[in-house]
Amino acid sequence: MDITGAAFVVMAAIICSVFGIPFTAAENEGPFEVRIACGSTVDSVALETGYNWSKDRGYTGGSSAPLNVTNRIAPQLNTLRYFEITDGPDNCYNISVPSGHYLVRFFFSFGAEDNGGREPIFEVSLEGTLVHSLAPGWSSIDSNAYAESLLHITDGAATVCFHSAGHGNPAIASLEILQLYVDAYNMGSSANLNVVMRTVKRVSAGAEESGFGSRVRGDEWGGDRHWATDQDLFVSGCAGEAIHTLARISNFGNPPNVYPEAIYQSATTIGTTSKLSYTVSVQPNQNYSVWLHFAEIHPWITGPNMRVFDVMANGALLFQGIDIVKIVGEPFKALTLNKTVMVTSSNLTISFVAVKGPVAVNALEVFQIIPRGYETQDETVWALHDIKHSLQLPSRLGWNGDPCAPPLHPWEGVSCAFDSKAGAWFVSAVNLNNEGLRGQIGDTWPALRKLQALNLSNNFLEGEISSFGNMTSLTSLDLSHNRLSGLVPASLGKLTLKILLLNDNFLSGELPGAVGALPIRGTIMNVTNNPGLCGIGIRPCSTMPLSVKLAVTLSLTAGLICLVGGGIFCWKRKIAITRPHRHHRDVPYAKARTTFVRDVQLARNVLQNHFSRPAPAYHQVMPFNPY
Ligand SMILES: *[C@@H]1O[C@H](CO)[C@@H](O)[C@H](O)[C@H]1NC(C)=O
Ligand SMILES: *[C@@H]1O[C@H](CO)[C@@H](O)[C@H](O)[C@H]1NC(C)=O
Ligand SMILES: *[C@@H]1O[C@H](CO)[C@@H](O)[C@H](O)[C@H]1NC(C)=O
Ligand SMILES: *[C@@H]1O[C@H](CO)[C@@H](O)[C@H](O)[C@H]1NC(C)=O
Ligand SMILES: *[C@@H]1O[C@H](CO)[C@@H](O)[C@H](O)[C@H]1NC(C)=O
Ligand SMILES: *[C@@H]1O[C@H](CO)[C@@H](O)[C@H](O)[C@H]1NC(C)=O
Ligand SMILES: *[C@@H]1O[C@H](CO)[C@@H](O)[C@H](O)[C@H]1NC(C)=O
Ligand SMILES: *[C@@H]1O[C@H](CO)[C@@H](O)[C@H](O)[C@H]1NC(C)=O
Ligand SMILES: *[C@@H]1O[C@H](CO)[C@@H](O)[C@H](O)[C@H]1NC(C)=O
Repeated sequence: MDITGAAFVVMAAIICSVFGIPFTAAENEGPFEVRIACGSTVDSVALETGYNWSKDRGYTGGSSAPLNVTNRIAPQLNTLRYFEITDGPDNCYNISVPSGHYLVRFFFSFGAEDNGGREPIFEVSLEGTLVHSLAPGWSSIDSNAYAESLLHITDGAATVCFHSAGHGNPAIASLEILQLYVDAYNMGSSANLNVVMRTVKRVSAGAEESGFGSRVRGDEWGGDRHWATDQDLFVSGCAGEAIHTLARISNFGNPPNVYPEAIYQSATTIGTTSKLSYTVSVQPNQNYSVWLHFAEIHPWITGPNMRVFDVMANGALLFQGIDIVKIVGEPFKALTLNKTVMVTSSNLTISFVAVKGPVAVNALEVFQIIPRGYETQDETVWALHDIKHSLQLPSRLGWNGDPCAPPLHPWEGVSCAFDSKAGAWFVSAVNLNNEGLRGQIGDTWPALRKLQALNLSNNFLEGEISSFGNMTSLTSLDLSHNRLSGLVPASLGKLTLKILLLNDNFLSGELPGAVGALPIRGTIMNVTNNPGLCGIGIRPCSTMPLSVKLAVTLSLTAGLICLVGGGIFCWKRKIAITRPHRHHRDVPYAKARTTFVRDVQLARNVLQNHFSRPAPAYHQVMPFNPY
């Protein structure tokens, strides 16, 4: 920044503070930029552009491989990062960035070491929204190895994820996150905040060769956009004629879009027919934002009413009666127009149709408008990261990025549902049965407030069962066939569980009565094969409960007193004390328990088969319950 620039910043700061307008120093200091050379272990400066390329960072896994660039558009880098299936199906970069509006750009490549020389197919998401699908054959067209999207990032970090489609290893050569002005590419109102603008085409009409903004006299705040020639866009038999000027253009390069001057210094015009058409292949039934750039650079057109034309999109009128000189007031002055169109077919054909004089166009940009997808509730994301850690999830399961977004790529073993009131995804079920997990269950699960089913069976999980106590949505809990130890928490008995499987663990102690009674309420329960566990429905607990001990002690003491004291008075007292226990002596403990166990099991079986039927004859058995 030169001295006048600095003076301007100071002046602007003073003026803004006087008038109470928030002054954003950041926009005067230059854009925030991150350029990552994927797979590289060193920082470097590119000779041609002077850009700083950071060594690889912020990634969730993967490996590095040499990059053999044959693409003319790609930056000259030596490495790439690729993600094998053992790294998980979803891998991400998490790069911290200040809140703002960004252009996020990738170059994809592949080689012998990472993909055996075969082109991989995969998908890319930004902030949980799917933005790019690499189509078969992408690597044979230079511009298809390049992808760019514009979006606002407000959560402090750019989350860029690569989703395997089962065809080769996702591989990426470079990732650039380049700040734009907040209101760049403003489509009107606040439309930009809730969408991602995916760049489909950016063309400098009449240009002799493709190039980055940096090569055509700079566009610091424009994200160093790449401008392609228009040669491959012409509808066959309809090629235009290029015109150029060296004259200076006025009114170009203004914030927020800061277009480079060069795009206005060339144009494509057509003399022989009255119509010039470009065709871009698109996804049907999507909205596209079309940006058109004009400046009158033809020496013969010096005033209004000499060149007038309409612009059509797939035959529908987009702009009527454009007279560049009339709109901006003079030749060699830039004009930008934008409009959003819904496209139903797989082609978007933009036609310039002459009304007066020949048509001409200087540059054209087409963006796909992708509505931002919903993300998962923050609390859920943090809880699952914690759970990933405590369960010691292997990296092949992934669990990177957003658990539920994009919806086509939820985390392995995680089922999601949408909460329309909160406008966010939540996790409804986790199923990690038989995944070789060796960690602990942990105590973060209650943060998954809406979890309905959890299946962690057939693993090697150790430690105690944490409190699932207030997970009121939980209806199915399967922790069977693990190495869990400790007590069964009584709070499980408060839940409205349909299924509770704790069998084949090392749980011990007494099964709490509330849990033991769950089958009566219709719960399918299995607590067998826990060597240390006793209680209702299993084997008797070896130590007698306190009440029984007390009664026995009392009767023994009373007996002793009688023996010593004797007499009729004493005989009467003995009857009074022992009467409540007569029943027990008449019916031995063992027999009482057997009856009880059989009846509870009967009840369970009956309940399993006929949920609506009440438990049979439970109260008749109750008096024999020694607990
Ligand atoms: C690259 O980094 C160096 C040192 O951090 C800095 O001095 C230089 O201005 C940077 N260059 C660019 C183009 O950002
Ligand atoms: C890079 O690719 C080109 C063309 O496929 C090949 O001729 C060259 O040997 C490769 N270089 C390396 C270092 O692999
Ligand atoms: C992403 O990066 C931000 C900022 O560095 C950090 O606060 C956050 O924890 C990271 N998120 C994940 C999921 O790693
Ligand atoms: C793009 O078009 C919209 C709607 O017509 C308009 O509000 C907005 O100002 C235009 N943007 C620019 C940068 O001209
Ligand atoms: C396209 O835009 C229209 C009008 O804004 C909207 O109703 C429609 O949902 C959009 N379509 C897509 C696929 O985003
Ligand atoms: C799309 O445009 C291409 C090239 O002009 C043409 O070959 C193709 O038939 C068009 N497809 C449709 C569906 O209009
Ligand atoms: C649920 O239980 C956990 C730990 O037992 C506790 O931290 C949390 O506040 C409880 N939540 C509710 C809603 O009671
Ligand atoms: C847990 O997963 C295993 C394997 O898919 C299945 O056999 C078992 O029935 C599941 N448990 C529950 C309670 O659904
Ligand atoms: C309970 O688990 C045990 C041990 O795995 C098994 O043998 C038994 O069949 C299970 N009971 C029911 C009712 O599924």
